[in-house]
Amino acid sequence: MSSSPTAPLREVIDRILSLEIVRVTERAAVSAARMRGRGDEMAADQAAVDAMRRELGTLPIAGTVVIGEGERDEAPMLFIGEALGTGNGPKVDIAVDPLEGTTLCAKNMPGAIATMAMAEGGTLLCAPDVYMEKIAIGPGYPKGMIDLDAPPGENIAALARAKGVSPDEITALVLERPRHADLIAAVRKAGAAVRLITDGDVAGVIHTAEPETTGIDIYLGIGGAPEGVLAAAALRCIGGQIQCRLVLDTEEKRARAARMGIKDPRKKYALEDMVRGDCIFAATGVTDGGLLRGVKFGRGMIETETVVMRSVTGTVRRIRAQHRQAEKF
Ligand code: FBP
Repeated sequence: MSSSPTAPLREVIDRILSLEIVRVTERAAVSAARMRGRGDEMAADQAAVDAMRRELGTLPIAGTVVIGEGERDEAPMLFIGEALGTGNGPKVDIAVDPLEGTTLCAKNMPGAIATMAMAEGGTLLCAPDVYMEKIAIGPGYPKGMIDLDAPPGENIAALARAKGVSPDEITALVLERPRHADLIAAVRKAGAAVRLITDGDVAGVIHTAEPETTGIDIYLGIGGAPEGVLAAAALRCIGGQIQCRLVLDTEEKRARAARMGIKDPRKKYALEDMVRGDCIFAATGVTDGGLLRGVKFGRGMIETETVVMRSVTGTVRRIRAQHRQAEKF
């Protein structure tokens, strides 16, 4: 199959990108994994960022970071707007979170991942690194069944009705934060159970797509906006619904968002507003977790586990890789 620089992402994806992005998240995960349990979040993040950027630089794409480590003036690498790749290939938007769960990695706790998504240029939401309100459920429900602005009890009741169960059989995943005290109380009052996580809501949202395996039916609460866009990309591939709203609660944040083209600071984003076309998503485990195994270091060998998804077909591949040239990582 031929691929010209102007060929749509869909055409070149099979040949190059879906496997190439696995290499990118693998490298970032291995570099971060070397910093597991060192108590140094910055160093772990930096290791992942360096590796991810290095690897992205070799890809045959004309990429632009739309979700990255921060804005140009605050992030030296993988900043929003940074051009990446050889420049010789399709125009793509890139969303990265080289180390999702920096604290988890620094403390060697479950659930740290290296993750990224890629889509045709101009189709991913470019958002500042602010908070985001989120609600997400898995596939198979009528569109619009959940609503970010409805009380948690109503969303739980609607989900329970659609599943044909009582609310006490619903489990909501929520980040354990003081800001969620009222939300948690409301979910419990509605009869549902709450599973709390200390970090890592990209995986948290993905868990809603497989409730039979994960036991998670709905994700609720406020997390990072970059993580929201990445999670939306994953759901675009595997199915599910997500609604989000940026928390632009100061003039300064509204101005930053406006510079990125966000006209309505109160806009409620549906999945299709955050990921406006086909995309690919990949994540590699750094520490062991519910979604992925962490990196294993052996004698002259490194093992990684990656999940890579494509929205064009909905294919989800799990790739257990053994890297025999460990010195290259
Ligand atoms: P980092 O890896 O950037 O620390 O993000 C971890 C995380 O738990 C995300 O999954 C989540 O969206 C965000 O932090 C929540 O932010 P905060 O820790 O400020 O509540």
